[in-house]
Amino acid sequence: MTTLIDGNVHAAALRARTKARAEAFAAHHGRQPRLDVVIVGDHPASRAYVRTKTRMAHETAIDGRLIELPETVTAEALLAEIARLNADPTVDGILVQLPLPGHLDGQMMIGAIHPDKDVDGFHPLNVGKLYTATKIDPERMLIPCTPLGSLMMLHDTLGPKGLAGKAAVVVGRSNIVGKPMAQLLLANDCTVTTAHSRTGDLPAVCREADILVAAVGRPEMVRGDWIKPGAVVIDVGINRVPTEDGKGRIVGDVATAEAMGRAAHITPVPGGVGKMTVACLLHNTVVAAQARAE
Ligand code: GUN
Repeated sequence: MTTLIDGNVHAAALRARTKARAEAFAAHHGRQPRLDVVIVGDHPASRAYVRTKTRMAHETAIDGRLIELPETVTAEALLAEIARLNADPTVDGILVQLPLPGHLDGQMMIGAIHPDKDVDGFHPLNVGKLYTATKIDPERMLIPCTPLGSLMMLHDTLGPKGLAGKAAVVVGRSNIVGKPMAQLLLANDCTVTTAHSRTGDLPAVCREADILVAAVGRPEMVRGDWIKPGAVVIDVGINRVPTEDGKGRIVGDVATAEAMGRAAHITPVPGGVGKMTVACLLHNTVVAAQARAE
């Protein structure tokens, strides 16, 4: 028996808590917590993501604003925009949607965001804090949203001490998901392996995992027989694959149908991790607002 970990339910609960905090912040400070999302160019999937982020912000009593810049914007102009947001005391959170067009250096732009407003948790200072913390505290730290959401669902599924001693395998080594996810699992006393597309005998490595996190961006790459019976599977992938009617369909990095009956718990795609990512972004915005107001 495999149970689905319902991202909608987890995200709705986190958003409800975040909304109550945002309303209390507004009552106390006379303004809502504010999140400014910067998007460069018109990549359709990125545009859809950022619209979801600002819409969900509004539903959570957060002043979400979208700043749309043309594909051709220069590095100087983008840096100037980030500097303007850094200097604006009413801006609590800044998110620059990645990936950026090829002529812009994503790491440079992330490094330009004030660390206290870095609600993605991508600034080197926040990355360093995550790597050196002996205790992970999502109330005091800005932790990357997708790994944080995944961790929260693991805690709810396995119980607060349920991760300790488990073998965790993270497939994927991106700065956005794979690396911070491994760090969070390590801090929660898992024995962590970070695997990737060049790992030798990846199926065998995955079969060792009590907790398997797939974040490679390859549709249904993780097959059912790569999953240890009874494992908890977190599927971070959001991949659009073609269908005969031309509309396409969204699948994860795990062949979910094959995993059913093998995994103990699995996040579906859609309706799994993606919903928690946005909820954690709003959580981080309120954490940033409260920390800045202290
Ligand atoms: N692109 C894909 N995921 C993310 C994310 O979590 N934050 C940003 N800034 N860009 C992304």
